[in-house]
Amino acid sequence: MTPPSDSSDRSTPEQARAVAIVPAAGRGERLGFGVPKALVPVRGTALLTHAVRGLLDAGCVRHVVVAAPPTEVESTAALLRDEGLAADVVAGGADRTESVRLALRHAIKVVPDARVVLVHDAARCFTPAHVIRAVVAAVAAGAPAVIPVLPMADTVKQVDFGGTVLATPDRAALRVVQTPQGFDLATLTRAYAEAGDSATDDAGLVEKIGVPVATVPGHAYAMKITTPFDLAIAEFVLSAGVAP
Ligand code: CTP
Ligand code: MG
Repeated sequence: MTPPSDSSDRSTPEQARAVAIVPAAGRGERLGFGVPKALVPVRGTALLTHAVRGLLDAGCVRHVVVAAPPTEVESTAALLRDEGLAADVVAGGADRTESVRLALRHAIKVVPDARVVLVHDAARCFTPAHVIRAVVAAVAAGAPAVIPVLPMADTVKQVDFGGTVLATPDRAALRVVQTPQGFDLATLTRAYAEAGDSATDDAGLVEKIGVPVATVPGHAYAMKITTPFDLAIAEFVLSAGVAP
């Protein structure tokens, strides 16, 4: 599903200084495989392997740091090494925010001159290379925070705790958010220092410190694999060889 990298699209020196953080320390409870979701195979290859290969093949990421379940650090490092993929693997935390924080701390140590940092869910392992490049390019061009988004297909309702509808937000102003999310390294570091409580995405922390978040077009293939249904879709699309 991830198209081959386009060798005519040479990364700029700023883009080449991008470091990618891959939170992969979740348990995958909704998928229900009994193993961490990042290790679940699609067409015989672990989601995490697809995700890391996609980042490296995009041609604009210099270094990858994976946050793995603490008990799976060695096995995850071995898995990636056996696939010939260069990545550092660190122990993740109790929630996604903590996993990103731990991986970010490592990234700053090993690539202190990184300018762009991507945060990319292992569960969105089929994000096309052109989306990854667009996010990096937008940050390299000066945006402090950039997220890939899609228009909403469904109408969304706001409800109270009892499930009664309170309001219908204007769908035209809503977007579905994907990863990789890209940041100026200094901005993301500050967001984690100043607003680092739990958030469902990293841009949410950046919003809390008052920094504007820009958007670029996402892609259907950047869907998050959460349930067995999502996994079945990923298997089908990959086996059908449908180009993004
Ligand atoms: N993640 C993480 N550390 C955690 C929890 C989640 O690094 N403590 C990662 C997951 O591995 C995944 C991404 O954050 O790549 C998005 O989380 P989600 O899709 O919720 O994955 P899981 O937490 O594994 O799934 P579930 O919530 O169904 O258990
Ligand atoms: Mg989760």
